[in-house]
Amino acid sequence: MIEIEGLTKAYDGHVVVDGVSLTIPRGGLTGIIGPNGAGKSTLLGLIARLLAADRGTVTVDGLDVATTAGEVLSRRLSVLKQDNSIAARLTVRDLVAFGRYPHSRGRLGDVDHAMIGRALSYLGLEPIADRFLDELSGGQRQRAYVAMVLAQDTDYMLFDEPLASLDIRHAVSMMHLLRDASRRFGKAVVVVLHDINIAGNFSDRIIGMKQGRVLCHGSAGDVMTGANLTAIYDIPIAVHRLEGQFVTTYALPEGADGA
Ligand SMILES: Nc1ncnc2c1ncn2[C@@H]1O[C@H](COP(=O)(O)OP(=O)(O)OP(=O)(O)O)[C@@H](O)[C@H]1O
Ligand SMILES: [Mg+2]
Repeated sequence: MIEIEGLTKAYDGHVVVDGVSLTIPRGGLTGIIGPNGAGKSTLLGLIARLLAADRGTVTVDGLDVATTAGEVLSRRLSVLKQDNSIAARLTVRDLVAFGRYPHSRGRLGDVDHAMIGRALSYLGLEPIADRFLDELSGGQRQRAYVAMVLAQDTDYMLFDEPLASLDIRHAVSMMHLLRDASRRFGKAVVVVLHDINIAGNFSDRIIGMKQGRVLCHGSAGDVMTGANLTAIYDIPIAVHRLEGQFVTTYALPEGADGA
């Protein structure tokens, strides 16, 4: 499990993650929602030690991320950042192979090749596996980055907006895949999401952030209320149940009827 205690980060005296304490268990998908600037990416960066905390601790299975050797941590926890740009001209397959580096140290064995093949297949990337990243559409490239993280095959996987640029079919299929991985293999999958319907329908737990703090945290049923979402996003939001799904609606400007 990931245990976060009193985690704080400020930039130029402006606190952007403010005393966050949380426990994220293995098994199941945890969605993080919240407005732009709420601190979601900073929180992920602190958990994955891409950023140093000013105060507080993060432990992963009892290992303090601040002091654990990088090679130990990278076999246990992987992260997909919000902005990915690899300058080198790489193929999709090369990128996914990078995900195996913590295990293979650059000498790919049978297990590595099997994991690379599996990740390419899960993300539907086989037909474009030998294309260069700069020859792909935005959504294809995003799926390649997710495949790289899946190939790393760690118990803890953090994804910052993995649905960016994906059409609804690919978004839904990626959420199925991530939730399956979390449930079938007992992994902790943490996903930052802007689509609150998708967050409600695929998350086992949801963390709602605002201004660096956790405003609400619980099961999807607990968090997906009009009062919570209205408080998080500062616009009137209503939550409905339709055919077993959460469906959210929001106030339209005066005169607009959505027709
Ligand atoms: N390197 C930095 N230097 C200064 N301020 C930063 C830096 N990185 C982030 N911030 C600020 O910290 C706050 C939180 O940013 P963060 O990227 O964590 O938000 P977010 O919730 O991920 O937002 P988004 O939904 O837009 O991705 C923002 O006000 C941002 O401007
Ligand atoms: Mg972000």
